Amino acid sequence: MVGLIQTLIGEIERLPTERLFGRVASVRGLVIEIGGVQGNLSVGDRCRVIARDDRSVPCEVVGFRAGHALLLPYGGLDGVGLGCRAELTESAPMLRPTDTWLGRVINAFGEAVDGQGPMPLGEHPYPVRAQPPPAHQRRRVGGKLDLGVRALNTFLTCCEGQRMGIFAGSGVGKSTVLSMLIRHSKAEVVVIGLVGERGREAREFIEDDLGAAGLARSVVVLATSDEGPLMRRQAAYATLTVAEYFRDQGRNVLCLMDSVTRFAMAQREISLSAGEPPASKGYTPTVFAELPRLLERAGPGVPGTGSITGLFTVLVEGDDHNEPISDAVRGILDGHIVLDRAIAERNRYPAINILRSVSRTMPACNTDDQTLLVNTARRIITTYEDMAELIRLGAYRAGSNPEVDAAIHYYPMIEDFLAQRKDEATDLETGYALLRRILETTPDGAGQDGTATG
Ligand SMILES: Nc1ncnc2c1ncn2[C@@H]1O[C@H](COP(=O)(O)OP(=O)(O)OP(=O)(O)O)[C@@H](O)[C@H]1O
Ligand SMILES: [Mg+2]
Repeated sequence: MVGLIQTLIGEIERLPTERLFGRVASVRGLVIEIGGVQGNLSVGDRCRVIARDDRSVPCEVVGFRAGHALLLPYGGLDGVGLGCRAELTESAPMLRPTDTWLGRVINAFGEAVDGQGPMPLGEHPYPVRAQPPPAHQRRRVGGKLDLGVRALNTFLTCCEGQRMGIFAGSGVGKSTVLSMLIRHSKAEVVVIGLVGERGREAREFIEDDLGAAGLARSVVVLATSDEGPLMRRQAAYATLTVAEYFRDQGRNVLCLMDSVTRFAMAQREISLSAGEPPASKGYTPTVFAELPRLLERAGPGVPGTGSITGLFTVLVEGDDHNEPISDAVRGILDGHIVLDRAIAERNRYPAINILRSVSRTMPACNTDDQTLLVNTARRIITTYEDMAELIRLGAYRAGSNPEVDAAIHYYPMIEDFLAQRKDEATDLETGYALLRRILETTPDGAGQDGTATG
């Protein structure tokens, strides 16, 4: 309590005694130009434009043009006109998370949006746009994190502090995979950023997929698609900020974001408004600079703190996995999980394409036995998928290649193993045991029959 009072006193002392303000010189679309204080502003600064009805519209400086500062608003612009006052707000945006934020839903400003009353404030402010810990001081990724999804636990094992992307076209099951992770993973704390989601979906996600038990150990940061680009971008930053708070409390945090693409789109809107020329597919160079700054904030902490394991969804536009955002994100992260529309179409969920997905930390964290098991299963999938067309057409004659014969025997069982209902959890050990049981069956039908995997 004394600490809190001291922090408050410190902050009051730092409050400015005078306030700078400029005037609105023009409004074009969402961009407000202000004159008078441009010499005191820099990109990223906060302002408050006072509308005619005395409403205060929070804004951010996104650029400069012809001697004026360009501002984008966080909310609507109703009531803002020429000559309106634009006041500088001094401090960089901060959040004050506490453990009591668990179970709550907040917006990009850290304000409650779940109707449960105002958010309690913690002792220490955490900057919304923090820098990642210095690379040389960070610990290395920790032990395996049980994600509760057996396809991931066995074939794409994720370690504490690892960052993975979930890549898929629209409607292939990204959000559903995230909801399984929230409910089934063994992480102590889950921080979820819903960035640019449709409002209806966000609500369904929180009420149905998360459920009371999932929410109890989670904090949800929400910016729906109808909110402005600054809100959507800040929701992504705020998600990492809350995760950093829990990391600094020594917790192992699972940070999920749906989706990084919408963060990139928000940044694109902001840059284009400021007049930055687009580079690739309309995305501006700033987008590609901001992506690593955001994603690097997840990862292991410095010694004495916990870690942030990050799983970020990427909406792959037009199922083109080489589109610029997918490409950039894949290069930053320590692994990618690819969901495949063709697999979803044959109704195998989660529609993870094992052969196209990679966990870069897995080889180091597995025992020899586990590596052998996973490699054997992978080889079976490869062999089968190479021959799939011929097998389906009936052009393959049983007995002509023992490896293909074995693949035909094992493949359906591995497919059953990879399928998992939304409400079903499988821990790490059980996952390996089930896979081992499948591979111990023999093609002539002896041994287990594999149906136990379903
Ligand atoms: N594990 C699952 N079991 C059964 N059906 C599933 C599963 N996962 C996804 N689906 C089906 O796929 C649909 C789309 O899933 P989801 O909303 O998770 O996709 P998405 O990739 O997040 O979509 P969007 O790109 O629109 O955000 C669901 O409505 C559901 O019908
Ligand atoms: Mg979704």
